[in-house]
Amino acid sequence: MKLATCYTVAFFGVQPKLIEVQVQFAPGLPAFTIVGLADKAVAESRERIRACLHGLGMDIPAVRLTVNLTPADLQKEGAHYDLPIALAILAVMNIIPKDELKNYIALGEITLDGRILSVPGVLPSALLSAEHEKGIICPKDCGPEAAWGGDIRILAPRDILEIIQHFKNETILAQPEPKLDEVSSHTLDMKDVKSQRFAKRGLEIAAAGGHNVLMIGPPGAGKSMLAARLPGILPKLSPKEALDVTVVHSLAGMAPKDGLVKTRPFRDPHHSASLPALVGGGQKGKPGEISLAHNGVLFLDELPEFSRGCLESLRQPLETGTITIARVQHHYTYPARFQCIAAMNPCRCGYFGDEDRQCNKASKMR
Ligand SMILES: Nc1ncnc2c1ncn2[C@@H]1O[C@H](COP(=O)(O)OP(=O)(O)OP(=O)(O)O)[C@@H](O)[C@H]1O
Ligand SMILES: [Mg+2]
Repeated sequence: MKLATCYTVAFFGVQPKLIEVQVQFAPGLPAFTIVGLADKAVAESRERIRACLHGLGMDIPAVRLTVNLTPADLQKEGAHYDLPIALAILAVMNIIPKDELKNYIALGEITLDGRILSVPGVLPSALLSAEHEKGIICPKDCGPEAAWGGDIRILAPRDILEIIQHFKNETILAQPEPKLDEVSSHTLDMKDVKSQRFAKRGLEIAAAGGHNVLMIGPPGAGKSMLAARLPGILPKLSPKEALDVTVVHSLAGMAPKDGLVKTRPFRDPHHSASLPALVGGGQKGKPGEISLAHNGVLFLDELPEFSRGCLESLRQPLETGTITIARVQHHYTYPARFQCIAAMNPCRCGYFGDEDRQCNKASKMR
């Protein structure tokens, strides 16, 4: 039967869902159809795959080609469907073995010259592969990230030809290793702060206990300076925390090159940040700053300048440690257990209560 199956993932928050990619060649008028609630990026896969395989001298035969993405009622978004669809087509064309392909979850974007480009979400996909006892086929650059997903078979080819040669046993792709680079030290050091013993002690206690802090003081008191040096005194991430942080960064397409986030995140969004940028959302329900600060610090400098909506939206995550973004099709839940450090001036001019300078009367306490 001219049918092949490969697996991939769809992302809905931190828990990806397993998606089966079926490709069938049938007699009839030549066509290339993708069904299963695919968005525009997935629909464009057709053109990339057709052109890529043509460029590699493996033209898709003139058949009625149907790609089915199941379960059909889940929205499929992103360019990472290129690789599983292309591999399933190659399997129907008997270029790679169908039986072996079924044991893998594949994700990656392909270019017209056959290269496989990095995509977000490789680490959560690797964790899902481990759960389903499958291997993972991901872009070469994402190999170290996948390696943190557990004891699974990882194929991280640079291009389509490499993966074909691997399945034909012509070259064997090496298993990527989880890299254990030394933690890069923060360049900003608390020792730069002169005096301010009370503020420094306060930050030390907050760093040790994970407490929220509000610093109020006149301009130039060193609030921003103190906060920027906080990452240097934060406790180390535990392996479980590091994995959780990396999953969120991976979904945002911000996983580091060596695969694992090893230091507590420190996010300092500007006060002009929009609500979706802060809490997450947008068309694809991406994690926002508060989720990127999970297990780390969210620094809100000039707190009263943030819009009311943004500040109100922090209530749920501060209480529950998670944020849920509602969309018509789906709810996305991301972790958001962060330590909130905020800084502000006591009034608009900044000198309310100052012993040396007179406060501008026009600017009362906020
Ligand atoms: N305790 C300090 N030790 C060393 N330098 C300091 C100290 N306090 C302030 N500074 C210097 O003053 C500069 C301004 O400080 P900073 O920007 O942190 O003030 P701020 O309290 O955030 O002010 P604003 O309310 O205007 O944001 C710092 O970059 C630093 O050079
Ligand atoms: Mg400041």
